[in-house]
Amino acid sequence: MARSGYALPGPDEVEQLYALASARPPLSGDTDVAATYAALYDLALDRADLAAVTAREVGELIGVCCGHRWNWTEQTDEWSQDLAERLGDDAAQLEGSFAVQLLAVHPSFSRQGLGFELLKRLMIASAASVHWLLTPDADTSARRLFRRMGYRPLTVGPEAPNGEPGVVLVHG
Ligand SMILES: CC(C)(COP(=O)(O)OP(=O)(O)OC[C@H]1O[C@@H](n2cnc3c(N)ncnc32)[C@H](O)[C@@H]1OP(=O)(O)O)[C@@H](O)C(=O)NCCC(=O)NCCS
Repeated sequence: MARSGYALPGPDEVEQLYALASARPPLSGDTDVAATYAALYDLALDRADLAAVTAREVGELIGVCCGHRWNWTEQTDEWSQDLAERLGDDAAQLEGSFAVQLLAVHPSFSRQGLGFELLKRLMIASAASVHWLLTPDADTSARRLFRRMGYRPLTVGPEAPNGEPGVVLVHG
């Protein structure tokens, strides 16, 4: 699986970037959420199929988007089981798909199309025909970006890293 960008960031860099990216309303900087994303990213670093696209400015990480393939037989954790139950028959749509795990852009570089570009490049690099992600069920910049890219809601829940029920969006 392709890994593009300057270098794969470390979990600390990801945590720092997510904390900055989510510091403003409506996400309003819950540092536990940044730590949760960093921990999930750390786990994903062990996966051979992790794909990541990064943007750097003078070496500093200013944007990251990453994810991995999704096969239900591999996803035996409680969260994934909860997701499968909520999806019911729709779970089949995600088999062999690509799960977008993380997208964050530094606030100094936001609203310039970088988030769109990172996600677009990751989707192309993934070579999958179906992509999905979980995002807070709120009117965020991310939600509008995903809608613009053609993502559509599949189900509500399970919980997003902010502890609230997220919305599962699917593309393809
Ligand atoms: C969501 C996020 C990644 C978007 O990154 P971004 O680089 O700002 O994304 P884009 O620039 O592609 O689009 C964002 C906005 O900029 C606007 N925009 C894009 N290009 C633009 C340009 N050249 N000039 C002016 N505005 C532009 C878009 O219309 C969009 O507007 P909206 O928020 O009112 O809908 C970023 O806000 C972020 O990191 N948020 C916190 C973390 C998060 O929510 N991650 C996703 C959770 S699943």
